[in-house]
Amino acid sequence: MAAFQLEELFSLKGKVALVTGGSRGIGKMITQGFLSAGASVYITARKKEACDQTAEELKTLGVCISLPADIGTAEGRKDLLNQFMDKEDNLHILVNNAGTNWGESFASYPDEAFQKVLNLNVTSLFAMTRDFSALLEKGASQDDPSRVINIGSMDGLHIPTVSHTGTFAYTSSKAAVHHLTRDLAIQLASRHITVNAVAPGFFPSKMTDYVFEKHKSDIEANCPLKRVGKAEEMAGVAVYLCSRAGAYTNGAVIPVDGGTSINHQHVQGSRE
Ligand SMILES: NC(=O)c1ccc[n+]([C@@H]2O[C@H](COP(=O)([O-])OP(=O)(O)OC[C@H]3O[C@@H](n4cnc5c(N)ncnc54)[C@H](OP(=O)(O)O)[C@@H]3O)[C@@H](O)[C@H]2O)c1
Repeated sequence: MAAFQLEELFSLKGKVALVTGGSRGIGKMITQGFLSAGASVYITARKKEACDQTAEELKTLGVCISLPADIGTAEGRKDLLNQFMDKEDNLHILVNNAGTNWGESFASYPDEAFQKVLNLNVTSLFAMTRDFSALLEKGASQDDPSRVINIGSMDGLHIPTVSHTGTFAYTSSKAAVHHLTRDLAIQLASRHITVNAVAPGFFPSKMTDYVFEKHKSDIEANCPLKRVGKAEEMAGVAVYLCSRAGAYTNGAVIPVDGGTSINHQHVQGSRE
């Protein structure tokens, strides 16, 4: 029996990807993975300088292009689509990664938090997928579908175990991302586009800097593997989902959290 050619099975050579929030954190980890697997990657973020700088840094790994835009607004998304269409005729991989959080106590948790968090984490994710679907369809075939990856969170699978302040808008937005992923997977399957979600546990990023500083030992204690995630573990799941190896995976929500979301022996931080 012939061995599988693993390099080919997990290769992204010839693929064009767009990663929102690619300038740092989880988006940068995924971009690094895609470039290492041979894809050309466009990254977007609001801060032009940081986006340009990351693209420049990652150019040592392959073709990485900065397209700064605010995807939290319809104008920003339109601008991004136009910028992208000036450069490419089709798209193979869209990673809806840009996201935001808002922590505040229950009694003072503002309506504005829901507007801000749901707008970026859910509405923009849906709008990006809808608006780029024609380009994704052009890059797709039944044998090799185009891929959408939505970045959810383990906090959309369970109620946060290390939570000293409420993140009500965030947890509900991430549960929405997971369910929307299933809905979009059905919607887009006939156009040869798969849609999956990754639900990360704790990974080092600007979003988690503060909580790591204050509660890293609780985070590690709550994780069955007793540690936080590494860049290669986020890159790995994204490369799998976008390669030939992941072509038949559709509508899945994949936790990458060391088992934290299924751990019921957790230490619950006291809430305000
Ligand atoms: N890190 C974790 O442990 C963890 C765990 C579970 C889930 N996640 C999820 O993973 C995703 C990335 O989080 P992260 O931890 O890497 O956060 P991060 O370090 O704060 O990075 C967020 C990225 O999104 C960009 N962004 C924010 N608002 C944007 C907008 N309106 N338009 C375009 N880009 C925007 C940011 O750049 P600009 O500020 O320049 O726009 C940045 O590149 C989020 O969806 C988050 O919920 C993270």
